[in-house]
Order: sequence, then structure tokens, then C-alpha cells
Amino acid sequence: MKSTIDPAAPANAAPRLPGPYLPWFGPLRALQRNPVAMLSAGRERVGDVFTFPLLGHEIVFGCGPEAHAEVFEADESVLSPFEVYRFMTSVFGEGVVYDAGPEEMDAQIGHTRAALGSRHLGQYVRIMEAEVRAQVSRWPAEGEIDLFTELNRMTVAIATRCLVGEEFHRRMGGPHLPGLYHDLESGVRLACLLSPRLPLPAFRRRDRARALIASAIGQVIEERRERERSGEPVNPDEGQDMLSVLLNARTDEGEPLPEQIIIGLLIGLIFAGHHTSTVLATWTGVLLSCHPEFISRLRAEQDEHWPRGAPLGTRPLHRMELLERCVREAERLHPPLILLLRKALKDTTLRGHRVTAGSLVLVSPAVSHRMTEVFRDPNRFDPSRYDSDRAEHRRPYSLIGFGGGKHRCIGIAFAYLQVKVAWSVLLRDVDLLPAKPHYEPDYATFLPSPVAPCTFRFRKRSQGRP
Ligand code: HEM
Repeated sequence: MKSTIDPAAPANAAPRLPGPYLPWFGPLRALQRNPVAMLSAGRERVGDVFTFPLLGHEIVFGCGPEAHAEVFEADESVLSPFEVYRFMTSVFGEGVVYDAGPEEMDAQIGHTRAALGSRHLGQYVRIMEAEVRAQVSRWPAEGEIDLFTELNRMTVAIATRCLVGEEFHRRMGGPHLPGLYHDLESGVRLACLLSPRLPLPAFRRRDRARALIASAIGQVIEERRERERSGEPVNPDEGQDMLSVLLNARTDEGEPLPEQIIIGLLIGLIFAGHHTSTVLATWTGVLLSCHPEFISRLRAEQDEHWPRGAPLGTRPLHRMELLERCVREAERLHPPLILLLRKALKDTTLRGHRVTAGSLVLVSPAVSHRMTEVFRDPNRFDPSRYDSDRAEHRRPYSLIGFGGGKHRCIGIAFAYLQVKVAWSVLLRDVDLLPAKPHYEPDYATFLPSPVAPCTFRFRKRSQGRP
């Protein structure tokens, strides 16, 4: 991809974020406490591009659509996601994705794209609806729930069934799997910038969870291959999951993908897609419950496109435009990934400021989504900002909750469908009321969900009630 950064342009050093902070650690404490407040305050003090040290790294922060365009469209030999996300090898496995190098990573991601296309999404919607209904059926007629925990159970089951398949779900599904996914995911934290191999309890739990999941996927692969060898007919549901797509994939040389790569890709996709979707689904629910004026409009939209008693499909979901805009507001106000990084492999520039080789370049969806220059009254929940006459998100690289450019998320359609399915079923079947005055982001977690407990009161709606 062609770089939009002109290395010949005169470059000045970007302003330094004023202290106080320790030289090597940098503003670590402030960043851990509230990265969004820290970066937003920095921007107000010194502008859209500034630098600071962090755990021995030089960070160059850039904010706004123009800075995002330069970062997301930069040539990978200049600003590399591989170098900076290589610590993810502890989750994905050796030779997988960021550890595979640019060309091989493209090929690996290419194999997974097929299973996230429209043909498969229709099938996944069936699984998504079934899992949301199964979860709701376990609730009593009324009471209190922790919304994050409930949505997490749904997304665990959905990711497991759609990606790894029914046999893995039967074998590993149940109470243990959310804990295993949690251990896998919470092993990724700021300390990884030092080394993902530090002797920390969280890293040990991450490695244990990965080993257990990898071994169970390995068994499923072995069983499927055995059934294929013996000519046993394939269960039609199995043909749809990501695992079967990867088992049928061939390299350029016509070889099947090595088992360790298939396992690594599946674990990587669970990692990339599960917790992120839970966080987006939770914030969507929090925002809707705190803005009840939208609920009756959303229910009317459902009734127009989704007849009662009919199964949900991709078509009615695509027609639910107000719901889509509400989810987009959740993406804007509470993007699950609040910090995205690249490593400068060569000297370059960002918005005309010098970036020296070795620096880490940082953009923040959470900070830039609240720029008044881009979004009118940005702290307000206002789904109409996406109406065609305003379309504030149309400006390239203004809404970056799923990244941008070549490395933009490949799971965006899957994630949006999942959140829309969850809230279609929940809005129709349940009344939810906030049980707390405020739901604030918990920045102690890697993907900030609302501070626990995320308690809501609920009452199931009778079928006939409008
Ligand atoms: C709400 C849910 C999700 C959010 C907010 C999200 C966000 C993101 C973001 C911001 C990136 C770009 C990272 C960067 O440029 O540094 C990304 C990349 C990626 N996402 Fe997602 N994602 C979500 C769901 C999913 C799902 C469901 C999958 C797959 C099942 C997925 C798979 C990927 C992959 C493979 C990449 C790397 C693409 C590449 O580098 O070429 N994501 N995601």
C-alpha cells in the first residue's frame, strides 16, 4: 500500500506532553487510571499530535481523521502493526498472524474472510438468536442481572459455535468456557509492552487457558479428519463454521493449512471477536436503557421488519436502521478498543511532525470519537447524527472503532449482527431498567466495559404485549 506520509516534508518535533512524570515510566499511572482523560487533557494542552515516554518507549500520539488517515494508510514497512502486536504471539501462537510477517498474515486472514462473508452470516444469525433466547430462558420472570455477565455468556457460546463448531461447544461449553476465555484475554495488558513472558500470574493463567483450548480444538480437528477418512457423512452445521472453512483451505502450493496455524487462527479470532463484542453489546444496552425515549421507536421498527414468531434473518436486521445507528453510537461513545498502535520502522512524519524510527505511534478511537471538530455535541447519545442529511461518520477515518485502512477489522459485519440480534431479542422480550445512577467505563480492564457490577432490573414481557 502506498504511504501518504511524505518523508521529504520538513518535520518538526511534536510537542512534548508536559509532566510531572518519571522519565522512563512516563505518565503510566495517569494512563492506567484513565487513558482517555489523560490523552484528551494532553490534546487540550499541546494539540492533536504530541509525544511522551512510556515504559522506555517513545510514544507519538495523533488525533483526528487526518492523523488516522496517515497512520492507517502508511506503508507497513514504515508504520508496522506486526512489530508492535507481536506480543500477541503468546495468545495466537508462533507463526500465526502478527508473528507470520506481512505476506503470510495476509494469506492467513484471507482464509478466514470466507467464513465471515454473507453466505455464512445468514447461518450464524440462526445460532446467535438461539443462544440469546437460551440465555434469556434461564432468567426468572423478573429480577436483577449483571448485564455484562449475561451478554458475555451469549457471546462465548456464539463465538464458540460459529468459529470452532458444535463439537467443541458440546465438549467445552458450559460454565468453564467463559472463565477460560477470560483468562486468555486478561493475559493481554500494558505489561506486555515490557515482555509477554514476565512471570505474572495473569500470564500463567493465559498460557494455561491457551493450552487447554488448543488441545480441545486439536481433538475436534482429529475427529473431523477421522470421520472424513472413514467416509462418514458431514453434519450440515459443521460445514458452516470457521473451522471447516479453515480445514478446507489450501495454501498457494495446494497444501492444507498446518494444524497449529488453524488452531492459532481460531484462538486469535475468539480473542479478537469475543470480548470486543461483549463490550459493544453491553454499552449498547446501557445507552438504550439510559435513553428510554428510543425504546418504543426501536420496538416499532422491529414490528415493521420482523413479524412476531418468525425467525430473525439478515434481511430484517439490515432493515433495522435505527438499531444500527444506536449500535454505532455505542461504538463511537465506548469503542471497545481504545488504543491502537503501530511501530515506526523508519523515520517518518505525522501531521508534519517528526516520528523517529523505533517510536510507537498511538491513535485512540475513544479520544477522537469525542472531537467537537468532527462530531456535533460529541458527548451526547444522538443516533440521528448518522441520518443521511448529517452523516457525521462519512468523513473518512472519523469513526474508527473497527480501525481503518488495510488492517480494518474483518469481523465488523459479524460483530454488528451479533449485537443487533442480542438487542432485537432482548428489546422484544424483556424490559430493562438501570439499577445504578451511572455506568462508568472501567479503565482497569483492557477493553473498558462498565464498572462491575453492571446491574440492571428486568421484567420479561408477555408475548402479546406491545
Ligand atoms: C465489537 C467487536 C469488535 C471490535 C470493536 C473490533 C475492533 C477491531 C479493530 C479496532 C481492529 C484494528 C486494529 C488495529 O488496526 O490496530 C480490528 C482488527 C481485527 N479484527 Fe476486530 N473487532 C471486533 C470484532 C471482531 C470479530 C467478531 C472478529 C472475527 C471473528 C474480528 C477479527 C479481527 C481481525 C482478524 C483483525 C486484524 C485485521 C488485520 O490486521 O488485517 N474482530 N478489530
